[in-house]
Formats: sequence, C-alpha cells, structure tokens
Amino acid sequence: MSDSVLEPTPQISQRMYERITALAYERCGVDLRRGKEQLVSVRLGKKMRESGCKSYESYFEQVEQDRTGETLIAMIDALTTNYTSFLREGAHFAYMKEHVLPKLEKRERLEIWSAASSTGEEIFSILFTILDHFSWAPDSPEAARRLKVRGTDISTRALRAAQAGVYAEERLEGLPAGWSRRYFLRGTGRQQGQYRVKPEVRKMAEFSRFNLIDPEPDARQYPLILCRNVMIYFDRMTQEKVVRTLTGRLEPEGHLFIGHAESLSGISHSLQYVKPAIFRKPCGAGQESNRGAR
Ligand SMILES: C[S@@+](CC[C@H](N)C(=O)[O-])C[C@H]1O[C@@H](n2cnc3c(N)ncnc32)[C@H](O)[C@@H]1O
Repeated sequence: MSDSVLEPTPQISQRMYERITALAYERCGVDLRRGKEQLVSVRLGKKMRESGCKSYESYFEQVEQDRTGETLIAMIDALTTNYTSFLREGAHFAYMKEHVLPKLEKRERLEIWSAASSTGEEIFSILFTILDHFSWAPDSPEAARRLKVRGTDISTRALRAAQAGVYAEERLEGLPAGWSRRYFLRGTGRQQGQYRVKPEVRKMAEFSRFNLIDPEPDARQYPLILCRNVMIYFDRMTQEKVVRTLTGRLEPEGHLFIGHAESLSGISHSLQYVKPAIFRKPCGAGQESNRGAR
C-alpha cells in the first residue's frame, strides 16, 4: 500500500506556504509563490514524513535551524525536478557538432560548463559527443589532457549521482549505436542492469555545487555554457541576473544553450539570438542590452 493511502497529505496553511516559498525564492531563486499550494503540500508532505516531523511547521523549523544548509537543499530538491536524460533536446547536440566544435578543434584546452547538470546525463552527453566528434578514444591521453566539462548544480544529491555516473539500462535506450560499449561498463551480478560511465571519461568531468543566483566564484570563460530547464523556476528578475552571470562567463562569440521550453524574451541581456534556445555573445561584446529578444 502506498504512503498516500495510509496517510493523506495534510493541507498546508496559507501562512506556512508563504514562509516556505519565500525562503525558496530568497535563497535559491525558485519561484513557487503563486498558486502552487497543492504541489508544495504534496511534495513537502512526503519530505516531512520522511524526516519524522508531524507538521509543516516543525519541518520548516528543521530547515531553518540547519546551519549546514543541507536540509534547505533537500527541500528545494523536493520542490523542483531533477528530470533529465541523455542527449535531451537533440537539436543542441546537432548544433554543437555542426557549429561549435569545428571552431574549437585547434584549442589546446576545451572546457564547457553544464550549469544545472542534475544527475549527470547532460555532462556525459557533452563528453560523448565531443569524443565522438574528434574520434578520440575514451582513454586517449589527448582527450584526458584537452577536455573538461564542468558540471554544477544546487542539489548535492544530484551531484553525487552525477559523480557516480551509474545509470539503469533503460536510461541508455536510444543512444547512438556503440555508445554503451564505448563509454560504459556493464554491471554484472548484483549490478546487472546498471551501466557505469568509464572512469577515464568520468575524470574529464568536474563536479561542484553552485547556486545560480549566487555570485560566480570561478573566473573561467567558456566557449559554450548549457543552462537548460532550470530558468523555468525563476522569475524575470532572477533570470536576468542569472543570464548576466552566465554572459560574463562566456567568451566573445561563445554560445549559451537554454531549454527549448524557456525563453529570454522580456528580459534585458546582451546576447544575440541564433535559433530557438541558442544564443551567442557578440564578438567584442559591449554592455548593450537586448530587451525582448527570444
Ligand atoms: C530539470 S533539471 C535540468 C537538468 C538538465 N540541465 C537538463 O536540461 O536535462 C533542473 C536542475 O536545476 C537545478 N536547480 C534548481 N535551482 C537551482 C539553482 N538556483 N542553482 C543551480 N541549480 C538549480 C535542480 O537541482 C535540477 O537538477
């Protein structure tokens, strides 16, 4: 019998709803402040039971009192989704092969940033696409020396999963022929049905926690940043701030990919629209603003 049959989710009070969603907005930019009472009740009801609390009030107290911030991160995790998949939104990977990678061929260092990388499928899709494109074997010293994908997320749980790089067989369905053998180790015995990204490929990924609304401590600039399917949680003001941070981390002529269900319309930014969900930083980019560009 499921939990929900045993214990119906209690309805959250308006006051509690406002306090929880204000905290999520203030600390993580996640905007659930209007009309999401049902979603918040259901998702936090489960969390509340798991943490042994009898009410939303005592759960919220736990979140506020935890100085490590881990309980808050777990709450945000429950309120948002980590849904992702390999080669999600294939148009981005096609564009990358056709327009981005050919220009990076001669570089000694090739670094890309996946800025809300969730459980790692996006990071590894980038790595596999690049290895394939340059015909680098996963264990080639050249790839190890030249290639790095930085994966960041607010969720420590998602980052741990990304770092482990273990995926159920069905997650690999639809990947190009040969990829599972080339890039994964197949689990046996108790790990039957699980695939683990080869260690030499995992070493090309760098994982760290980063909240997109915080100032970016890393001064690197990238020819390509992916920040997909996270901006939907932000209001315009936060989107504008995040895009400004990301633009600062793009090289001139560097590309930003956002989710195809997202848009930069109505926010002020200095990027050029290329095609749906693809933007480019102008060469010699000034601070000119581009309000309303898609
Ligand atoms: C739906 S997943 C998208 C994963 C991947 N980019 C994709 O498109 O498949 C959204 C991710 O954004 C992360 N996230 C939510 N708020 C964030 C924030 N303020 N800073 C960084 N990451 C955040 C979540 O933890 C989650 O892993």
